[in-house]
Amino acid sequence: MAFLPILQYGKELIRTRVKKGDIVVDATCGNGFDTVFLAELVGETGKVYGFDIQEQAIIKTKNRLKEKNLLDRVHCIQESHEEIKKWVKHKVKAAMFNLGYLPGSDKTIVTKGETTIKAIEALIHLLTDDGIIVLIVYTGHDQRQEANIVETFLKSFSQKEYTVMKLQYINQINHAPYLIAIEKKNA
Ligand SMILES: C[S@@+](CC[C@H](N)C(=O)[O-])C[C@H]1O[C@@H](n2cnc3c(N)ncnc32)[C@H](O)[C@@H]1O
Repeated sequence: MAFLPILQYGKELIRTRVKKGDIVVDATCGNGFDTVFLAELVGETGKVYGFDIQEQAIIKTKNRLKEKNLLDRVHCIQESHEEIKKWVKHKVKAAMFNLGYLPGSDKTIVTKGETTIKAIEALIHLLTDDGIIVLIVYTGHDQRQEANIVETFLKSFSQKEYTVMKLQYINQINHAPYLIAIEKKNA
C-alpha cells in the first residue's frame, strides 16, 4: 500500500483510539471536514467541541454537519482554541489541530504559535490517560514561525510523561505539511 497523505495518518491515529460516546475537540474547524470526521467517530452518544475564530468557518462547518445530520453532537464555538478550558469541562479523548489558514479564504487569518501552544497546554490537562492530540503543521505561509514555536514547546515535554512524535515526508516540494502527535506515556 502506498504511503498516505499526512492528514490521513493523523485521522488514522485518532480513529484507533476514539470510540462511540467519547468527547473530542476539533481545535480548527475551517471548512468542517475534520469536524465531520470526528462527529462520525464519536457517534450519537459522543460530543465534539469545535473551535474557529472565523464566522464563515463556523457557518461552513455547521452547514456540512447539518447535511450529514450530525449537528446535534457538535458544539461549534466561534472563539480561539486557547479558550478551550472555558468551554470544555470534561476529559477529552482526542484533539485535532489542522493549522494554518482557511483554504479559499483570507490567508492572513492563520493559527499562531503562541495561541496554539496555549491551547495544547490546556488540552494536555483535559486529556484522558489514553488520549491523543494530533497536529497537522504547515510551514509555507509563515517561514516556519508557528512550527518552530510549537516544536520548541513540545520538545520541553518530559519524556517520562509524554511521547511526542513527528511524521514528515522529507522529499516533497512546496512546504508539505507534517504531523505531530502527543500521547501520555501510560497509554
Ligand atoms: C487549515 S484550516 C482548518 C481546516 C479544517 N479542519 C477542515 O477540515 O476544513 C485552519 C483554521 O484555523 C482557524 N484558526 C486560526 N486561528 C485560530 C484560533 N486561534 N483558534 C481557532 N481556530 C483558529 C482558521 O480560521 C482556519 O479556519
